[in-house]
Amino acid sequence: MKIVFAASESVPFSKTGGLGDVVSGLSKALVKKRHKVYVFLPFYLKTKRGVLDNYEFVDSFGVAMGNQMIGCNILKDVRDDVTFYFIECGEFFERDGYYGYGDDERRFSFFCQAVRKAILRFNLQPDIVHVHDWQTAILPLLLADAGLKFRSLLTIHNPLFQGYFNPYNLGSYLDLQEYYYSSGLLRFNDQVSLLKGGICSVDAISTVSRTHANELLSDFKAFNGLGYILNNRRFDMFGIVNGIDYTNFSPDNDSHIVKEYDYKTYKEGKLANKKAIYEKFGFNLNELDCPLFTAISRLTSQKGVERIVRNIPQLASQGAKLVLLGQGDSNIEQTLKDYCNQYPNTLKIYLGYSEELSHLLYAGSDFFLMPSRFEPCGLGQIIAMHYGSLPIVSKVGGLNDTVISYYDNKANATGYSFDGWDENGFDYSIGLAIQMYYGHSEELDNMIKNAMKEDFSWSKQVNEYIDLYKNLLAR
Ligand code: ADP
Ligand code: GLC
Repeated sequence: MKIVFAASESVPFSKTGGLGDVVSGLSKALVKKRHKVYVFLPFYLKTKRGVLDNYEFVDSFGVAMGNQMIGCNILKDVRDDVTFYFIECGEFFERDGYYGYGDDERRFSFFCQAVRKAILRFNLQPDIVHVHDWQTAILPLLLADAGLKFRSLLTIHNPLFQGYFNPYNLGSYLDLQEYYYSSGLLRFNDQVSLLKGGICSVDAISTVSRTHANELLSDFKAFNGLGYILNNRRFDMFGIVNGIDYTNFSPDNDSHIVKEYDYKTYKEGKLANKKAIYEKFGFNLNELDCPLFTAISRLTSQKGVERIVRNIPQLASQGAKLVLLGQGDSNIEQTLKDYCNQYPNTLKIYLGYSEELSHLLYAGSDFFLMPSRFEPCGLGQIIAMHYGSLPIVSKVGGLNDTVISYYDNKANATGYSFDGWDENGFDYSIGLAIQMYYGHSEELDNMIKNAMKEDFSWSKQVNEYIDLYKNLLAR
C-alpha cells in the first residue's frame, strides 16, 4: 500500500509528547512490512536548528489563503526508508515553540492546504491518507474536494483539542465553500471545528486504545459533546493501542543511560542508573536503598499532577524520593517549585524538556507515576514498564489496556492501577508500593520481570493498522 501521513510532529524532527513518538514508530513499522510511507510535517525552527541538516529541496509554490498568496518550500529527507516531506514557511513555522499561538488554526489550515497541493503536484496517488489530531484532520476533505480518490483514517490522540475558528474565516483559511459549514459538517458549538470536520469526512476514525474508544462513545457530554458526533460514526470507530519504538527505547541498547540492562540483569543496571540520578540531582548517596519514584509528563490537568503533589508529604514521611520531569501549566510549575523548597530531600524537579534525562529516569527509577484524569493511550507507562519501572496509574483509557494491575492479577501483574474516580486509590497504591519495596518482596521482583518481558513493540501493533487499512480499501 501507498500511505500518506500528515501530522504536526514526528520524532526525531519534532516532539512535544506521544504523538511525535507514534507517527515515527508507526511509519517505520509500516515500511518494514514493505508499505510505502510518506510523512508530511511542518518545518519548525526546532526542526531546522536541530536534527535536520541533510535535506533536499524539492519544490516551491504559493498557497492561497483568501486573497493572500503565501509561499512555501517543500524539503525532503529519507530516514529508515520513510520519506519525510517538510513544509517550510517562515511566517507560520519559524517560531520558538510548536503550538499555543493565537493563530494555530490558521497555521495548520495553511499546512493542510500546502500538503494537498504537494500531494497533487507530486502525483502521489495514495491508497490511504492517515491524519492525526485536529491539526491535520481536515486534509482528507480538502483532497476529496480536489477530486482525489483514496481511503482515509483520522486518529484522535487527544480529543481535548478540537481546532476551532470563526466561520467567517472559512474561505480565507481553507478554500472551502460556505456550504460545508452551513450543512453542519464543519460546525461544532457554533464555530468551525477542524476535528469535527475530519470526523465527519473520513472513512474511519480511530483512537489509541480500546478503552478510550469506549469512553468517547459512552460519554455524550465529555470533550464539548464530542460523543454525540462520534456516535453518528460508531460503526467506523476503532481503538488501537500504541506501540513504542524499541530502537529508541530499550534498556539493553540506550546511549542516554549509564548502564544498559535487561530483565536478567536489571538489579545492577537499575541501581547504577539510580546512582547517576542521585548524583545529578544531589540526593544523599547513602540513601540509595530508598524507593525512587518518577513522573515524566506534560504538566496539565489531564495528567492528574495535583494527585502527585498531594502525595509528596506521604512520600517524605515514608522515606521515598521523587524526581519529576515536565513542563506546562505555570501554576503547576510554581506549586512544584514551592514543594521542592519545602521537601528538598524528597522532591527534585526539572522543568523543561529533556529526552536524555527522560531515558535516565525511566531506567533508574523504581516506580512511575501517571494518575491521569483521562489518557487516550499513554506512552510513559509503556516505556516505564519496558525499563522495569513499575507504573502506578489510574484505570482509564490506554492505562487500563496496557497495565496489568496487581489488584486484579498478582501473578502476571506489571503495575498498580486504581479506579480513576477513586481519589484514595492512588495514595493507597503508593503506600503499598513503598511497603513492598522495603519488604524486598518477591512479588515485586516478579512484577518487574513481567513488565520488562511484555511485548509493546510497533512490529506487533502495526498489524492492527494494516488490517484496518485493508478493511477500508475493501469497502
Ligand atoms: P502525551 O502525549 O499526552 O504527552 P504520552 O504518555 O503518550 O503523553 O507521551 C509522552 C511522551 O513524551 C513520552 O515519550 C515521554 O517520555 C515524553 N515526555 C513528556 N514530557 C517530557 C519532558 N518534559 N521531557 C522529555 N520527554 C518528555
Ligand atoms: C496524546 C494522548 C496520549 C497518547 C498520545 C499518542 O497526546 O494524550 O494518551 O499516548 O497522544 O497517541
